[in-house]
Amino acid sequence: MNYRELFPVVDRHAWLNHAAISPWPAPVGRAMANFVDQNIAQGPLGYAEWLATEQRLRRGAAEFLGARDDDLALLKNTSEGLSLIAAGLDWQPGDALVCCGGDFPSNLLPWRQLLPDFVEVLEVPFDNDDPEAGLLQALDANVRLLAVSSVRYDSGVRLDLHRLGQAAHAIGALLVVDAIQHLGALPLDVSTAPVDFVVGGSHKWLLAPEGLALFWSRPSARQRLKPLQTGWRMWPDMFNFERGDWRQPESARRFEPGTLNMAGIHGLAAAIELLQSIDPEFRAEQLLQRTGWLIEGLERMPGVEIITPSDPDRRAGIVCFIPGRRDPGDVLKQLSADSIFAAKRGPAVRLSPNFYTPEAQIGKALEAVKAVMTRAA
Ligand SMILES: Cc1ncc(COP(=O)(O)O)c(C=O)c1O
Repeated sequence: MNYRELFPVVDRHAWLNHAAISPWPAPVGRAMANFVDQNIAQGPLGYAEWLATEQRLRRGAAEFLGARDDDLALLKNTSEGLSLIAAGLDWQPGDALVCCGGDFPSNLLPWRQLLPDFVEVLEVPFDNDDPEAGLLQALDANVRLLAVSSVRYDSGVRLDLHRLGQAAHAIGALLVVDAIQHLGALPLDVSTAPVDFVVGGSHKWLLAPEGLALFWSRPSARQRLKPLQTGWRMWPDMFNFERGDWRQPESARRFEPGTLNMAGIHGLAAAIELLQSIDPEFRAEQLLQRTGWLIEGLERMPGVEIITPSDPDRRAGIVCFIPGRRDPGDVLKQLSADSIFAAKRGPAVRLSPNFYTPEAQIGKALEAVKAVMTRAA
């Protein structure tokens, strides 16, 4: 596989920031550029082709997740999906929900916004060493929903969805998964995972433009959401504008009221096709190897505190570390001086390579961190 052709970014930068926004692979860029050229030359005359690309994306994305097409909706972003669940669920007075302390705001704010004297929101402190234990302890008879991010944005910790889903289902609660740091990085198969809602945006590990998210819902869970928005595009015969019998469809299309992000659809369709053309087990193995190399290298540096677990079952594409008494900003400065791009999250530096990241770039990043750690204070 010639990664230089598929991911030209590797020739210019060491991009260790896929957990923020990914560079577009060449086939994604080409699909977007073709769409732009077509629009400039002939406007929407190719609309029928656009719809065919949309259908290709729906089929590809469903296959990618082990889902049925009918259970997948295309939303604007992860936050929208989580908000639709929080605002739409058939909550009753006295209900409770469990979510994770310190999670990304999109997976906290929609829950916090529920009326406090109506739904009790239990925000469980997150424990990197046994992340499920506290959550399971908080599950009691009033809990209707457990919301987690399957891979944490701030530590890279990967949660055990089977353990969580089984416990949630045992008390009749739903498991909601923000999978934006998971989809495209490691496999997630909704046909076997005990999950009820999965939502993940396009612009990180899915390697596509911003402005789209995959929103999967189990039919029994979906039926429990009130329709909060409606519009013309929810029906299979959506161009029959004169029909009088508008009823909310059973399928996940009920979450798609109007015109979609067609430019993004062209990019995401190409990105998912690219991801599917490379064996998912191979991609996962390569990614975990790279995060493993980073952890091993950081472990050899005195003063570095690694936050991400070394157990490959407990991590994905993110490695976070605190550079002792050094300023994480200084580490980022050194990295970017060497054309290596990463991020700071809280007190930590966050490195997020991808399966295609050249081994030499991992080494270069470790050298840059070492240079800061050994610099005279
Ligand atoms: C865990 C997590 N959830 C949600 C988001 C935001 O997603 P979106 O912009 O698609 O709503 C991020 C972005 O960094 C994230 O890391």
